Amino acid sequence: MSVTAIVGAQWGDEGKGKIIDELAGQAEYVVRYQGGSNAGHRIVFDDSEFAFHLVPAGILHPGVRCIIGNGMVVDPRALISELESLRKMGVDTTRLYISERAHVVMPYHIVLDRLEEESRGIEKLGTTERGIGPAYVDKYSRVGIRMADLLDVDHFRSKLAPVLAHKNRMITQIYGQQPLSLEEIHTEYVGYAQQLRQYITDTQAILHKAYKERRAILLEGAQGALLDIDFGTYPFVTSSSTVASNAATGAGLPPRSIQHVLGVFKAYITRVGSGPMPTELFGEEGSRLREAGHEYGTTTGRPRRCGWFDAVVGRFVVRLNGFDSMAIMKLDVLDEMPTVKICTGYKLGDRELSAPPANLNEFASCEPVYEEWPGWETSTKGITDWDALPENARRYLKRIEEVLETPLALISTGPGRSETIHLRELNV
Ligand code: GDP
Ligand code: IMO
Ligand code: MG
Repeated sequence: MSVTAIVGAQWGDEGKGKIIDELAGQAEYVVRYQGGSNAGHRIVFDDSEFAFHLVPAGILHPGVRCIIGNGMVVDPRALISELESLRKMGVDTTRLYISERAHVVMPYHIVLDRLEEESRGIEKLGTTERGIGPAYVDKYSRVGIRMADLLDVDHFRSKLAPVLAHKNRMITQIYGQQPLSLEEIHTEYVGYAQQLRQYITDTQAILHKAYKERRAILLEGAQGALLDIDFGTYPFVTSSSTVASNAATGAGLPPRSIQHVLGVFKAYITRVGSGPMPTELFGEEGSRLREAGHEYGTTTGRPRRCGWFDAVVGRFVVRLNGFDSMAIMKLDVLDEMPTVKICTGYKLGDRELSAPPANLNEFASCEPVYEEWPGWETSTKGITDWDALPENARRYLKRIEEVLETPLALISTGPGRSETIHLRELNV
C-alpha cells in the first residue's frame, strides 16, 4: 500500500493512460496532479476505447476514487462533456472528486490561447489551444478563478468582472477582436457550477486521510518531462510542472509520501507541436513509425512527429524524476524495422554532449550519435512473457535499461489491457 507517481518521460503520449488503467485495478485512489484538457490518455478495454482529458484514467475500475487535483486547470464545459460520455458507457462517475483549489479554464483563456498562437506566426508553439497557458498565467498572476469561487455566485461575479474587463482590453485593443460578455460567461459558468457542485470538495483532506490509512494512491501525470515548464525544451513546453517533484504538490500530499516513481517511455519517441527533437525522422522512415504506431494526437488529431529512442534526454529525465522503475510502451510498433537505433550522445560542433543544453538554439543544432541494433522483424504484439520476446527485442530493451540505469518494470506490446509484460511487482 503506497503512493506511486506515474510520470511521462518524453514529450507526452507515452502511454500513461494505459499504465494507469493497468495499475488502477490495485489502487483505491487515482489523482491527476497537473495540466488540463490538453492531455489525451487513450485506453482500450474489452471492445471499447476511451480518451480521457480531465478525468483520471482510473475511473473505469469500479470502486476506484478519482481526484482532479489542486494543480490542475479545469475547463468545466469539457469536463461535463467527458462525464456525460463516461456515463453513456455505463461508468459510475460519482467516484469523482474535484479539488476546490483547482483553477478554472475560462472562455477568455481559450480565446487568448488561440490569438497568442496566431500572433506568433511561424514561431508558434503549437499549443492544443485548450486555454492551458493563459489559465496558468492567471493562477500565477493571482487573478485566477478557482472551483471554490464558482460555487459562490456573487463572489464569482465580483472576481470575474475586473478580470474580464482586463482580458477584453487585450482582446479588443491588442488583437482587434470582439469582447466577451460578462453576463453570458457568468450565467454559463454558474450553470456549470450547479452541475459540478456535487463533485467539488476538499480533496486534500480526503487524500490526507487515505494516505494516513495507507491506501494505495496513484498520482497520474499528464504531458511529459520534456514538456515541463522548468526542465523541458522551453519555450516549447506546456505551462505546468509535469515532473515527479510536483506530483505531491499538485495532489496535496507531502513530498515524502511518494514511495515509487514510475517513468513511462515509448520504445521510440514522439512529439506534437513545435520545438526541437534531435532524433526526429523525416520522410519514409518517419511515416512508417507514425502509421505503425497510429501516431495522431489524442486531443487534437495532429500527426505526431516520430523519431528514434533518445537516451540523452532519457538520462536527463531519469535523474530529474528519480525513476525507481520504468515502463517501455509500444514495443510492437518497431516490429517491422530491420534495424533500430538508440541515440546515446549529441554532437554540437566539435563538442560531444551527454545531456541536453538549456540553450534552445544549441539544442536545435545537436546532432544525434546513434547505436544501431538489429531489429527483430517478427510480431511481438500481445506478448505477455519476457522469454517469448524475440532475442533482438530483449537485447534492445536491455540496452535501454543499461543506458538509463533504471530497472524495467513493464513492457507494453499492444494497446489492450492484457498486452503487457510484467517484469517486477510494483506493489502499488
Ligand atoms: P498518454 O497521453 O501518455 O496516455 O498516451 P496516448 O493515449 O495519448 O497515446 C498512446 C497511444 O498508444 C494510445 O492510443 C494507446 O492506446 C496506444 N498504446 C499504448 N500502449 C501501446 C502499445 O504497447 N502498443 C501499441 N501499438 N499501442 C499502444
Ligand atoms: P498527454 O497527457 C503531447 C504539447 C502541445 C504543445 C505544447 C504546449 O496526452 O501526454 P499546451 O496546450 O499544453 O499549452 O501546449 O505541449 N502538449 C502535449 N503533447 N501530449 C500531451 O498530453 C500534451 N499536452 C500538451 O502539443 O506542443
Ligand atoms: Mg496523450
